[in-house]
Amino acid sequence: MQKKKSIIAIDGHSSCGKSTVAKDLAKELGFVYIDTGAMYRAVTFFAMENGLIKEGRIDEAALAERLNEINISFKFQPEQKKNETFLNGKSVESEIRGLEVSSHVSAVSAIGFVRKKLVELQQSMGKTGGIVMDGRDIGTVVFPEADLKLFMTAQPEIRAQRRFDELRAKGEEVNFEAILQNVKQRDHLDSTRAESPLVKAQDALVLDNSYLNKEEQLEWIINVLKQRHLL
Ligand code: DC
Repeated sequence: MQKKKSIIAIDGHSSCGKSTVAKDLAKELGFVYIDTGAMYRAVTFFAMENGLIKEGRIDEAALAERLNEINISFKFQPEQKKNETFLNGKSVESEIRGLEVSSHVSAVSAIGFVRKKLVELQQSMGKTGGIVMDGRDIGTVVFPEADLKLFMTAQPEIRAQRRFDELRAKGEEVNFEAILQNVKQRDHLDSTRAESPLVKAQDALVLDNSYLNKEEQLEWIINVLKQRHLL
């Protein structure tokens, strides 16, 4: 019988490059990359589109009622060499990255019934293995039996500087102190919410990438996989 392919869980703080590392790793291993943040973003977009978020308030009862109308899937787009997120058959990749979705997604991802639905979907997407999944609760809730669990972080000032540089490069007027406050506030919200807060799984390895580039991070992970005979 062929050995089941590995499940690699990557959790960690916002804006520390989890998805970049997860994508690079999946490519290197020939695995499928699953971006669970995109799934919470797609539910948020559904709620916005259907008038279930008004003046920043989520109509939880209506969202609960309409939850089974939400179908989320990913399709690999060979031209762009990346996964695109689909909501009910329509690509929402650019919409879910916008500022409006970003400003409501923390609240939507704190709702228990939303998490239950998405965790089930993530478990069914990953059960055959050969996946790299990133998020906040992958090693603790979605796949507590993952073959490798990583907890990624970087110093808040360094994450804020990266975000500042990114936004500046896009021509946006930005204030470093405001970005730093936002990074710290998101850390606080993610780690103190009642439903599946961001915590390091006991058996996760910490990857602090404050002073590591993309290549160094990938090399570090590949070495760990080799040491564990997962490669
Ligand atoms: O990784 P991201 O910024 O795209 O995630 C969007 C939001 O979803 C963020 O507020 C954290 C939340 N999230 C979560 O609660 N659990 C996950 N597994 C993934 C993301």
